[in-house]
Amino acid sequence: MRIRRIPFDIRKAMKVGADFDFRWAYDEQTSLVGLGYSFYLEYIEYFCNFVSKHSRGLIADEGLLDLEHTFLVQEMHHAKAHKYLNSFLCPGSIYKDQFHPRVYPYLHEFHVNHYEPILQRVAKGEREGVRDALLKIAVFESKNCISSFIFFEQLFSGKNFARTCSISANLGVLYLLGYHFAEEIEHCDVAIDVYQHIYQEPVWNKDRVRTQVMQVSHSEHEALAAALYCAKRLGVETDARRLTASPFMSYTKSRQIELIDADFDLNSPQILEQRKHYVQQWDEVWEPALRERVLREIESRTSCA
Ligand SMILES: [Fe+2]
Ligand SMILES: [Fe+2]
Repeated sequence: MRIRRIPFDIRKAMKVGADFDFRWAYDEQTSLVGLGYSFYLEYIEYFCNFVSKHSRGLIADEGLLDLEHTFLVQEMHHAKAHKYLNSFLCPGSIYKDQFHPRVYPYLHEFHVNHYEPILQRVAKGEREGVRDALLKIAVFESKNCISSFIFFEQLFSGKNFARTCSISANLGVLYLLGYHFAEEIEHCDVAIDVYQHIYQEPVWNKDRVRTQVMQVSHSEHEALAAALYCAKRLGVETDARRLTASPFMSYTKSRQIELIDADFDLNSPQILEQRKHYVQQWDEVWEPALRERVLREIESRTSCA
């Protein structure tokens, strides 16, 4: 696993300010969903950071501790980069408490209902609280790996890359999500290994597939709530039904149902092959090409100004 750095000023690349254009993807609904994910992911990254501080002591394997550290560094870099976009889209006040430094207003209800009670138990050092928190992270990372597959498949694979680059009105947001999803694919198995190492039981079983994948989870509402906020702020018409029906969300859900079963393993040959393929394509093909386009665009805007 490597710690990647965004090789330019991501604020300039995303045109944060008067020139901001939210249409980074091939359709408006997917573009809004991507902005919603930006808030949801930043929220979860701080959750992971808090939990890590209280769970690292339970990891007895040095190699796994190193991987967990890299995982966390990647996550905190993501949070920092997303903060530039999120604080621009949500310039008002945000909540902060002893468990989480940045809770956006439309995520506050989810924080109070689904995360804060766990974090309180984690802070008290309750083993079962830490277990619930690590399980939440492992489930999130498993599902997010599949979301990342869909992202690269729909936007970057084959001829889609050239098409996406020519349609996108915000290559900076596209880059941010590409960089982020590549690292998500790269580190997702660490969260599962940490849970399984400490608690000596598999993350996935029949019951968890039913409750976390087949049923609609609160996490899907979190991304939607943030996307709806963005739509309102940007003056774009939408609703939860249209966002859920967007190609990105609908394919993600059906692929999660297809791939995540009771024996789901992020390192099974079928999944591992896809993980390696997308990370390699990002590092060797898509990232260099996208970087060049972004740099050219920043340069031409700077010289026109
Ligand atoms: Fe992340
Ligand atoms: Fe992650």
